[in-house]
Amino acid sequence: MIHKRTAAFSRSVVYCKELVRNMSELIKHSVYVTRSDMPNVGIDLLKRECNVKIWDKPSPVPRADFLKEVVGTNGIYCALTDKIDKELLDAAGPNLKVVATISVGYDHIDVHECKKRGIKIGYTPDVLTDATAELTLALLLSTSRRLPEAQHEARTGGWVSWAPTWMTGPGLAGSTVGIVGFGRIGQAVARRVKAFNTSRILYFNRSERPEAKETGAIKVSFDDLLKESDFVICCAALVPETKEIFNKTAFDKMKNTAVFINTSRGGTVDQNALIEALKTNNIRSAGLDVTTPEPLPLDSPLFKLKNCVILPHIGSASIEARNIMSELTANNILAALNGKEMPAELK
Ligand code: GLV
Repeated sequence: MIHKRTAAFSRSVVYCKELVRNMSELIKHSVYVTRSDMPNVGIDLLKRECNVKIWDKPSPVPRADFLKEVVGTNGIYCALTDKIDKELLDAAGPNLKVVATISVGYDHIDVHECKKRGIKIGYTPDVLTDATAELTLALLLSTSRRLPEAQHEARTGGWVSWAPTWMTGPGLAGSTVGIVGFGRIGQAVARRVKAFNTSRILYFNRSERPEAKETGAIKVSFDDLLKESDFVICCAALVPETKEIFNKTAFDKMKNTAVFINTSRGGTVDQNALIEALKTNNIRSAGLDVTTPEPLPLDSPLFKLKNCVILPHIGSASIEARNIMSELTANNILAALNGKEMPAELK
């Protein structure tokens, strides 16, 4: 008798446990991830606590699917290729509590609309600063010292002999470098550039940056920076004030020996004006990690110009940075959904 009761009791314990498990599955937060190739480290973190739905392709979820997939979700884990606007937020509905992007830039998110609805925004500052500054320097040297062109010549028979003036380009030592946007990445670029024995580092930024002391960078007007720099590097976030600040007027003010580098957003540049400046040798060359649009169409005139080096938006693409960005994105979501302070909330 006792034996039978015990068996019935154990069965009901098992049943209750199952019930509790099913219920907690039901009340778990739901998170939508916009592509299948996000680094595992962050996705695994999310999966421990949330019901995670992932777009099943290693490319951005198409807009029409995105609008359907987000209905009712509590969190969105997205990238800079995913537009988070009013229409998307309406589609997600009132359960959406957090949007976290695996990027430091957030120009793809309608911040105002999110704030109005009390939706928190997570992003990934700091953790990609070194990676992006490293890439900026790599692009600068590749552009000024013409590495892609030189490699092409070496591979295709253009390397006939060592030649004294062939494949020459301006050196960094003794030069003036101008950095537009002196936030975390701009400053990290300045620290690296200084190691190349540059003569002056100038910066243009809306506010004074006390951190500039470290590199001796001098705050100047945008016009003075353009006129005096041998290398002009854009590290400014894309906001209404920086939209197409590199336009015809700006390129006209630059030295015709200047090298222009952009690792921020394509939207800071009037691309037609840049093409013209490069074609007419109004500036010497440009190195772009970002363009409008992205990807840059293969028939873009920029691809035809020898004095333009183009990379496919890989500024933060070190293995370490991408892993930690993914972890931070997941932790931003988990904190927001659990009512805790987010490690990197855009306020
Ligand atoms: C890359 O461009 C980023 O914003 O993280």
